[in-house]
Amino acid sequence: MNTLTTTPFAPLLDRLFEEAEAATSPAVAGLPESERERLMHSKTEYRDFYGRLKDLWLPVSRQTGELLYMLARSGRAKTIVEFGTSFGISTLYLAAALRDNGGGHLITSEFETSKVVRARQNLVDGGLIDLIEFREGDAKRKSSGVDRSGALGRCEVALYGNLVAG
Ligand SMILES: C[S@@+](CC[C@H](N)C(=O)[O-])C[C@H]1O[C@@H](n2cnc3c(N)ncnc32)[C@H](O)[C@@H]1O
Repeated sequence: MNTLTTTPFAPLLDRLFEEAEAATSPAVAGLPESERERLMHSKTEYRDFYGRLKDLWLPVSRQTGELLYMLARSGRAKTIVEFGTSFGISTLYLAAALRDNGGGHLITSEFETSKVVRARQNLVDGGLIDLIEFREGDAKRKSSGVDRSGALGRCEVALYGNLVAG
């Protein structure tokens, strides 16, 4: 038994994945995949584009979430840095690993205020909020303070969007 398989985490995740699946965004519905990719990686248009995606969760899959959990568990992670909280699904998996490692600190960043508000509530609902430090703002800017504490240099797991470095 671990945090992933027990209440409140397991039923919360079921509910959040259902919500994520049902979410739609008319603002991007007609955009071809190639255009989405271009905007997401554009140095000048990414902020505006993610603003249009603010209702979409864009979460890791359950399998990737479990992989994140296992990576953080097997590395006995105590410090984790995440870029791109969205509604907090990956954050929940990583925080669950910290809890099962005996505690720790997860710094996560997101520039959409409405997403930060909802993610915070999801972490409260999951009973994991005490492990989380939210940094609201553009993680690409120094002013976001994502690494003010030097955490990036000493973390065991870093999640960039949905890409992991360990
Ligand atoms: C792919 S989603 C992250 C999904 C999340 N990791 C999960 O599994 O639930 C990427 C998120 O990063 C945010 N984002 C993108 N670029 C960012 C930046 N430079 N600074 C802060 N947040 C950013 C977007 O608003 C979006 O919510």
